[in-house]
Amino acid sequence: MSQSSEPIPLEARGSSPLTGKIRVPGDKSISHRALILGALAVGETRITGLLEGEDVLNTAKAMAALGARVERTGEGAWSVHGVGVGGFHAPDAPLDFGNSGTGCRLAMGAVAGSPIAATFDGDASLRSRPMRRILDPLELMGAMVSGGDGKRLPLTLTGAKDPIPMTYRTPVASAQIKSAVLLAGLSAPGVTTVLETEASRDHTERMLKQFGAEISVEEEGDHGRRIILNGQPELHGVSVAVPADPSSAAFPLVAALIVPDSDLTLTDVMTNPLRTGLFTTLRDMGASIEENDVREAGEPMANLRVRASKLRGVTVPPERAPSMIDEYLVLAVAAAFAEGSTRMRGLQELRVKESDRLEATADMLRVNGVKVEISGDDLIVHGEGFVPGGGLVKTHMDHRIAMSALVMGCASEAPVRVDDTAFIATSFPDFIPMMRRAGADFS
Ligand code: S3P
Repeated sequence: MSQSSEPIPLEARGSSPLTGKIRVPGDKSISHRALILGALAVGETRITGLLEGEDVLNTAKAMAALGARVERTGEGAWSVHGVGVGGFHAPDAPLDFGNSGTGCRLAMGAVAGSPIAATFDGDASLRSRPMRRILDPLELMGAMVSGGDGKRLPLTLTGAKDPIPMTYRTPVASAQIKSAVLLAGLSAPGVTTVLETEASRDHTERMLKQFGAEISVEEEGDHGRRIILNGQPELHGVSVAVPADPSSAAFPLVAALIVPDSDLTLTDVMTNPLRTGLFTTLRDMGASIEENDVREAGEPMANLRVRASKLRGVTVPPERAPSMIDEYLVLAVAAAFAEGSTRMRGLQELRVKESDRLEATADMLRVNGVKVEISGDDLIVHGEGFVPGGGLVKTHMDHRIAMSALVMGCASEAPVRVDDTAFIATSFPDFIPMMRRAGADFS
């Protein structure tokens, strides 16, 4: 895995206009969920367009270790025969989730509803990330935690024999916390309710419905939601066609905005409104992003035509953060090429991602000559319409820092160097060849 492999440095330089049509890989959130729900269902789940990145492959291995039959039947095509809700077997060895917080935390929720013990582990980045936010509600439902310091990996989770249904308000807007509670709630007799003050991505809710669970969602307050799940459903296998990941599309999309004369189309991009805060923000900044072929298949999706645009600085409100939480790094790159200051407010959650992304984003820009400040939980980028470049960016085992820095180098005055691109394989294995084919100069 990347953790033990040699670093792969790379340099990005002023690129030709990005043109043509590309389909970025399948959505990571949906890919994890398709495997996990498939493993909890009875019968066969057939998945097409699965993201075959390291993060998702680790989830596939974990589901197999827990007793599901997981098979690759073609490129991006997978078949899962599940064990039924509460039917996981104890794995023989620790489950290794590599770099993936989502795979690990969702699997914890699923394991919490089976009466088995499983040890969860990951790479150095995942071992440093907080797990209490997931373990707190799972303990309230009857699961037990042992090993390590009880806060971080590696640790052992013993699922509840008789999980207790509950009402839980997530302390931060996090689809991972919400999903872990709902997945554990599948095994509980009665109603599990999750309240969120700010709505987070709702793929778990949508997919649970498709797999046959009784689940309803009510709006609450200005931006919140109440999600109500009836426990102990029989989930049945379904077909899942995974749309292209808007969080991966974000990289070629921003590259096309900042490289002069680009005209690039990104096909089949999921446009769930709880994921598209970046597109809204970029449009506010003056970006030309046209949605064509708008359609719906479990999730809304469209083809996005993106043309190089003159961008201006904006203020991004904190309530938009859940709908673009993984996109701030690449938004900061767009902001550096804009005229005027962009203030991104309320970014505290960025500190607990694959790296401390607030500091890492500021460093990435600073070493390339961009004026940037952190003020409390806000990031302020002072754009001057161009980026000097010439810096070496440290990726801190974080795929999105690596891709953001390479995108920046496509339009900066001097090349941008990246110390290690190996972690790009966790979410977007074809990023480098795909970007090169579209016009990017990476060497
Ligand atoms: C994800 C939720 C987000 C996001 C992550 C994927 C998911 O994390 O950052 O990349 O699939 O549920 P949080 O729920 O911790 O915000």
